[in-house]
Amino acid sequence: MSDHTALLAQAQEQVQASDSLDALKGIEREYLGKEGRLAELLAQIPTLPQDERPTAGREANRLKQAIVEAVEVKRAELAEAGIAAERSGDGFDPTLPPPRTERGSLHPITQVTRELEDLFQSMGYSVLDGPEVELDYYNFEALNVPADHPARDSHDTFFCEGDGHLLMRTHTSPSQIRAMESFEPPFRVIAPGKCFRHETTDASHDHTFHQMEGLVVDREISVAHLIGAMKTLLRGIFHRDLEIRLRPGFFPFVEPGFELDARCPFCENGCSVCKKTTWIELLPCGLVHPNVLRAGGLDPEEWGGFAFGLGLSRLVMLRHDIDDVRHLLANDVRFLEQF
Ligand code: PHE
Repeated sequence: MSDHTALLAQAQEQVQASDSLDALKGIEREYLGKEGRLAELLAQIPTLPQDERPTAGREANRLKQAIVEAVEVKRAELAEAGIAAERSGDGFDPTLPPPRTERGSLHPITQVTRELEDLFQSMGYSVLDGPEVELDYYNFEALNVPADHPARDSHDTFFCEGDGHLLMRTHTSPSQIRAMESFEPPFRVIAPGKCFRHETTDASHDHTFHQMEGLVVDREISVAHLIGAMKTLLRGIFHRDLEIRLRPGFFPFVEPGFELDARCPFCENGCSVCKKTTWIELLPCGLVHPNVLRAGGLDPEEWGGFAFGLGLSRLVMLRHDIDDVRHLLANDVRFLEQF
């Protein structure tokens, strides 16, 4: 028996005896690998006398081919056997607990936004989206806040580079004008979204926060309609009726304008949430100013409206007893996985 025949026989025997794909891989490496036995054989060829080299080369190749074939046949057999075993149930334990998958959850702001969208949609409101980079016109001018109006100071504004016409919206109120431009009255809309202010941050202020604008335009709108809608809103948020009160509040785009307070839902005699007053400041609102209706292309003699601006970030803090608004957008999983 020549060396080659012996080597082939040995390889075939080992391949035949292997009982797993891993074992087969080992054998393949032993014979066909970079430093395997075949490589050894090929390395010897240049040391042979010139006239023997072609034959030796051919034989080495034939040997290699034969081993490759044996390995392939065996690999197919083993794979087939593995599938058959799986199908028959061997090696599968149905009582093992499944691997734990990590599940994400919705951000608390997304949760409250979706709840309020459902609530308002059930009352016939449409949900609007507005641009976060806004024109000065929509953020201020059309909302009865002309250039040099002192109310601009309280909206510490991030201006975009350029001539100052583009800015990061400081509230969701620009959606009021955009809504008037795109809908025929009567209509009702809400517009939740991000707002930005260039302020020093602390536990109750962040440069980025969420609001939800509400706007209803119809004939003969009065403060009674506003109060009715706000009571429904409160019921949706706190799941019960809360006493409310209106204090005068100044916003150039509403007249009259109010700050709406609700009885503290967390206590009867004063607690840390209501700062011992039993009232919590909930949202600013009011009847749409005639100048704003005009800017939106509506005749204030014919149409009226009410608007409100709900602070979603604050609402989420109230609901989950969160003591620092900056947690909301810090993207810390230790915070987020609690919801
Ligand atoms: N846009 C006002 C703000 O963010 C809030 C507001 C909205 C007031 C609607 C009245 C009516 O300060």
